[in-house]
Amino acid sequence: MEDKIKVLNDKIAQAHLGGGEKRIAKQHEKKKLTARERVEYLMDEGSFEEIGMLVTHRTTDFGMEKEQYYGDGVITGYGTINGRLVYVFAQDFTVFGGALSETHAEKICKVMDMAVKNGAPMIGLNDSGGARIQEGVRSLGGYADIFYRNVQSSGVIPQISAIMGPCAGGAVYSPAMTDFTMMVENTSYMFVTGPNVVKTVTNETVTSEELGGASTHSTKSGVAHTTSANDVECLEDIKKLLGYLPQNNKETAPKVDFKLNDEVRDVLSDIIPDSANKPYDMHGVISGIIDEDSFYEIHKDFAENIIVGFARIGGRSVGIVANQPMYLAGVLDVNSSTKAARFTRFCDAFNIPLLVLVDVPGFLPGTNQEWSGIIVHGAKLLYALSEATVPRVTVITRKAYGGAYDVMNSKHIGADMNFAWPTAEIAVMGAKGASEIIFKREIAEADDSAAKLLEKEAEYAEKFANPYRAAQRGFIDEVILPKDTRRKLIKAFSMLENKKVETPNRKHGNIPL
Ligand code: COA
Repeated sequence: MEDKIKVLNDKIAQAHLGGGEKRIAKQHEKKKLTARERVEYLMDEGSFEEIGMLVTHRTTDFGMEKEQYYGDGVITGYGTINGRLVYVFAQDFTVFGGALSETHAEKICKVMDMAVKNGAPMIGLNDSGGARIQEGVRSLGGYADIFYRNVQSSGVIPQISAIMGPCAGGAVYSPAMTDFTMMVENTSYMFVTGPNVVKTVTNETVTSEELGGASTHSTKSGVAHTTSANDVECLEDIKKLLGYLPQNNKETAPKVDFKLNDEVRDVLSDIIPDSANKPYDMHGVISGIIDEDSFYEIHKDFAENIIVGFARIGGRSVGIVANQPMYLAGVLDVNSSTKAARFTRFCDAFNIPLLVLVDVPGFLPGTNQEWSGIIVHGAKLLYALSEATVPRVTVITRKAYGGAYDVMNSKHIGADMNFAWPTAEIAVMGAKGASEIIFKREIAEADDSAAKLLEKEAEYAEKFANPYRAAQRGFIDEVILPKDTRRKLIKAFSMLENKKVETPNRKHGNIPL
């Protein structure tokens, strides 16, 4: 028996060494943790159980039969994070550069299947040189097996991808189809084709970092939802994010203990500037409404004219979508509409109530936006909010102009509770623009056109730059004082807790993509 135990222990020790000491040292030199260290850090202490530790590849081409490593370049298994079950795979760059073989893919698929069957989040820690070149199409098939499972799991369990090293070629499409892509600064990159191919095809000279590093994807493309300074921060971010999410689409997110104590927040009373054209930071409104320090922002540096993220209100997890007057006056454009639409759909799929904070002057005008398809992209947000069946609450803090008023969770598209502050201006457009159009002749014919415009502007503003017309029609349920907003929201979300909506029987809608 002892011999047999020794054989097993030797194999386990070998598996724990991955590609060997030298390659582990190289990984550390790059300021990266190894796959095993990452998994250990991510999971509750002692909770990780590995599946398939002794799997090896089956390739015999290019002398590969002589190069065998237990685990075949990926660690897979399950464990708990803050006491809740999760499944994980972590690619091991020390074994064939974490390249994906047929067996490597089979291991990932096995845990993905288990995650769906058992209704728990799937976390992928990516660090890979892509398809295992020695295996050819078998490795490509492996990718497709994973992609297929990403899609089948979508909207059933949360899927989170951390990019902690290279992720190139076809490999990028698995993270892209998961719910969140989190990148580590300076050590990770994602691109469909690398700098060499780019040079050949387009003659552009670009580094890997410029082409697909964390800062590129968090600011320019929006591919990355969050970035972290290093591996440890990234793993901490995953834990934090999971705290806002349910285990699957049949459950609700965990509530945290909450005592009613500071529901009236005077700080909100002075947040709206006197002039309608002056910006203010919507983050101030968010922090004045939510449970202290509970905001976790997604896509922080991308399309900053809209803010999205998770927070807690009265201990409940909510998704917040908010116009940001500090950037581009909070207009809706291609990127902000897409960003908010995707976030809305995630929240809806996973039973996370939505709070929409509105201060929007409209859609961004111009050829750039029109030719980039703002019509279709803006429609995504309209569609996503209209189809959402989770509790939906709106607070209009200031401007709600034109079509953007409809889009931003108006009563008409199914919001449950619509509040407005006394500073709200719910109108087709701003008073100046409106007066220039409807009083054009009167202004032109006046002795003093400028004075006439001001007079007409004031007349229009008096009539429409307020929340009361909308409140008269019931489009606004209540005009509330800013300081009472938090109290009202806690009650509203509590009241909506058991909301149920029957949706039409159809295969799926056709969201404008
Ligand atoms: N298939 C098989 N082995 C691979 C591999 C792949 N796709 N990518 C890397 N490896 C191996 C390397 O042969 C090397 O093996 P070794 O430890 O025995 O020397 C090890 O992984 C590390 O690779 P290395 O090139 O030394 O690391 P690096 O940090 O300098 O570069 C990459 C990393 C990913 C940029 C580079 O390895 C690369 O370009 N790989 C190929 C990417 C690709 O085209 N993939 C296929 C298309 S999806």
